[in-house]
Amino acid sequence: MEIGRWQHLEGPKETLDFGRRLGKGLEAGDVVALEGDLGAGKTTLTKGLMEGLGYEGEVTSPTFSLVQEYGRGRLEVFHFDFYRVEEMGELFELGWDDYLERGGVLIVEWPNLFPELLPEGTRWFQLRHVEGGREVVEIKKPERAD
Ligand SMILES: Nc1ncnc2c1ncn2[C@@H]1O[C@H](COP(=O)(O)OP(=O)(O)OP(=O)(O)O)[C@@H](O)[C@H]1O
Ligand SMILES: [Mg+2]
Repeated sequence: MEIGRWQHLEGPKETLDFGRRLGKGLEAGDVVALEGDLGAGKTTLTKGLMEGLGYEGEVTSPTFSLVQEYGRGRLEVFHFDFYRVEEMGELFELGWDDYLERGGVLIVEWPNLFPELLPEGTRWFQLRHVEGGREVVEIKKPERAD
């Protein structure tokens, strides 16, 4: 279920701005899920979000490491990418449950691959390609994979 409307993002700068506004309002323990096809803008939005949290270092997609930890912003952030995770057990081995309890912010790209891992209250966003850019909407966390 959508919360609000699809919002047009004219170019990467608008994706960054959207993320920056979101990041400014985040609090310890928040979980942000970013769903969207390859190239939909998930990492770009994360970069903006990190700026909004006051982080000044580099932000790259943790596709191979599965998680990146950013420690120097207003809050600690753990940035996950489920794209290359083949089974949930890999995430448990990595300490998924501990990450949820560390009082930082969790950001997850490709959350729809293992939606049952995302807690109640997750801020869930969908991004999609449209002519002339991207669109983003916040939705209610899906009950299970579609
Ligand atoms: N609103 C936008 N309009 C046009 N291009 C955009 C927009 N937002 C981001 N991009 C561009 O889309 C490309 C892919 O962005 P990004 O890496 O953030 O996608 P992603 O969803 O993280 O992809 P992946 O699934 O591979 O992790 C980048 O070149 C980025 O600059
Ligand atoms: Mg990415």
